[in-house]
Amino acid sequence: MRIDVLTLFPEAIEPFFACSIVGRAQEAGLVRIVCTNFRDFTTDKHRSVDDKPFGGGAGMVLMPAPLLAAVEYAEAQDSQDPVTRVLLTPQGQPLTQKLARELAQKPRLLLICGHYEGFDERIRIGLQPLEISIGDYVLSGGEPAAMVMVDAVVRLIPGAVGGEQTLDEESFTEGLLEYPQYTRPRNFRGMEPPEVLVGGHHKKVAEWRRSEALKRTWQRRPDLLRARPALLEELRQVLAKEGLPAPDAPTGEPAWMDTTDY
Ligand code: ADE
Repeated sequence: MRIDVLTLFPEAIEPFFACSIVGRAQEAGLVRIVCTNFRDFTTDKHRSVDDKPFGGGAGMVLMPAPLLAAVEYAEAQDSQDPVTRVLLTPQGQPLTQKLARELAQKPRLLLICGHYEGFDERIRIGLQPLEISIGDYVLSGGEPAAMVMVDAVVRLIPGAVGGEQTLDEESFTEGLLEYPQYTRPRNFRGMEPPEVLVGGHHKKVAEWRRSEALKRTWQRRPDLLRARPALLEELRQVLAKEGLPAPDAPTGEPAWMDTTDY
């Protein structure tokens, strides 16, 4: 896979791509990440990338010409594989594990990081990109979003993460949050792992983890379970077995789910 990142601040994100799983995936030749500063595609002496909005108002808007020139340049490099263009913006569809899995199948991605108030609409019209948001908050630029996206996608490329099972067991791959984990020491400040985890009974360990994942998801992200009747039924059985109230009993939503006040 090749990933191009168009940004005004390559120096802010390049070190991140050199580290950890993304860095190792590059060293192993699984992915090549190329950051390009689209200020290098300006033609005026001030190297301007933005200007005041038509119609007035605060803030600056990214002009179409330098960005489109940078896209054309980046896309002409390397293989002629089709390029999936992504504009990082809070207006986009939310980044999810499902979307990350889809993007991990693509031969080439091109991520565009905005800055300032926004993009001239002709950037959208000209490029017809996917628009992706990493959450309902406003960043000063798309760079942190590009790092998040690259990380979420690259770790799904086969071979990028040691032990494919690790990936499968992780949060969200199956729509559940992860169960509680413990490691050494066995006794830490008087706190010990549940007996079942140190008993060496693999089937019981798997059952405990599954139950805990279901309960944790129900407590923290009931929205994830409500959309999955089969999981909700499984939770119902777990709660009944443990003598806890059924999941349809009103439990109260986590306070953060209140969207009336943003
Ligand atoms: N650029 C600014 N805010 C953003 C967000 N929430 N997601 C993606 N890109 C952004």
